[in-house]
Amino acid sequence: MKVDVILGLQWGDEGKGKIVDLFSPHYDIIARFQGGPNAGHTILFDHKKFVLHTIPSGIFHPNSENIIGNGVIIDPFVFIKEVTKLSEAGVHAIKNLLISRRAHLILPTHRLLDAVYESQKGDGKIGSTLKGIGPSYTDKYGRNGIRFGNITQLDFSDRYNALKEIHLNILRDSKTETSKYKFEGLSFQEYEENWLEAIQLMKTFRSIDAEQFINKSLDDGKTVLAEGAQGSLLDIDFGSYPFVTSSNTIAAGACAGLGVSPHRIGRIFGVFKAYCTRVGSGPFPTELYDSIGEKLRSEGNEFGATTGRPRRCGWLDLPALKYAITLNGVDSLIMMKVDVLDRFDKILVCKNYKRKNEILEVFPFELEDPELEMVYEEKKGWNSSLEGIDSFSEIPSELSDYIEYIEAEVGVPINIVSIGPDRKQTLKREAL
Ligand code: GDP
Ligand code: IMO
Ligand code: MG
Repeated sequence: MKVDVILGLQWGDEGKGKIVDLFSPHYDIIARFQGGPNAGHTILFDHKKFVLHTIPSGIFHPNSENIIGNGVIIDPFVFIKEVTKLSEAGVHAIKNLLISRRAHLILPTHRLLDAVYESQKGDGKIGSTLKGIGPSYTDKYGRNGIRFGNITQLDFSDRYNALKEIHLNILRDSKTETSKYKFEGLSFQEYEENWLEAIQLMKTFRSIDAEQFINKSLDDGKTVLAEGAQGSLLDIDFGSYPFVTSSNTIAAGACAGLGVSPHRIGRIFGVFKAYCTRVGSGPFPTELYDSIGEKLRSEGNEFGATTGRPRRCGWLDLPALKYAITLNGVDSLIMMKVDVLDRFDKILVCKNYKRKNEILEVFPFELEDPELEMVYEEKKGWNSSLEGIDSFSEIPSELSDYIEYIEAEVGVPINIVSIGPDRKQTLKREAL
């Protein structure tokens, strides 16, 4: 069997969590392959809402196993908080959650470093979620990191103290007043105490060699769904660097982040919003600064699931979408939040980028180029509510035109359209 992949094609928050949850009854294993608690994946069903940060979005289906892959970084404090919240709602993650021994940890001092580095950037701020993502991946690649598999080893405390000391030295050199930083409302010392307690609790979770488990499961005919975090335009290599996250969010990240060969990758589902959003700093070519942008934000309730920050909003950007499709080899598109456009007379779509009156044939290296212009195509809005619609055949003709226009431009079919946050508010062109 093969590993199918679900990932985001824009700047994150496309609605990946909803789709992974929707797909998970059809898979034996759901595996997160990168990112950490910077992710916030929202799932809504039976009037209940959950936001997952580290745990895969398949956790609500008792028959699927969920794996946190080696490419993910884990903050034990955030993880245990997430587990506790789930169990208060009657979802006992411990039963069907497995964690790769090779997944790296986010230490309290990683969060401190993240906060200090970000504040030192001044106007060049990334707008990081401040969850310690950059410093933790830096230590992974700098070969200083601590992995989940280390927590049960006798020398764990020594490793922890040694790495913490390296971080404290950096902080001392930077002469920053670290006591002013708070983490989830806690001082650094309080956070560290909670973190160390969380490490003890994490020992009760099953650690595995996830790459071997997944490959053996595939050999045994099991189906695997890989869940991405963030989005392709936040990818460390191909996103709008340096305003990106610190991992490979694209499909190739699923191979490295789970330990599977590219030969074993099956279908690639690309999730995108019917418009665009971005949270944090960095270029956003189709951003709207006017009342239309505000309307998108209020209709779409565009506030971050992890940080609560307002998301920047703009029209759909086809050159960026095509770039993401190419990087990932997407063969099936899933368009989200279409209902947010219900009350628009006209909808704009960026068809091309132009510089000095020439249409660009390739996605540009520099998005913050003042000479870059966006060429928009105007589409007629459907200006009616999609509520209650439960099949493709019932959608307004203007929405059909919108879908067909995008498909023709990008050359990939849109097989699912989401018209509300609930699991049920989903229109499928083909059976899953
Ligand atoms: P993720 O990070 O990609 O999983 O996405 P988030 O959960 O951060 O953000 C998506 C937001 O949109 C969440 O609040 C979802 O509940 C909501 N959502 C998902 N699909 C739809 C949809 O089709 N319509 C509307 N109105 N909201 C949606
Ligand atoms: P999900 O999985 C949206 C953004 C941050 C910031 C940049 C770097 O929910 O789609 P980091 O904390 O990684 O150092 O932040 O990336 N960012 C996200 N934006 N959705 C996410 O995840 C994000 N994860 C990180 O806002 O601009
Ligand atoms: Mg999110």
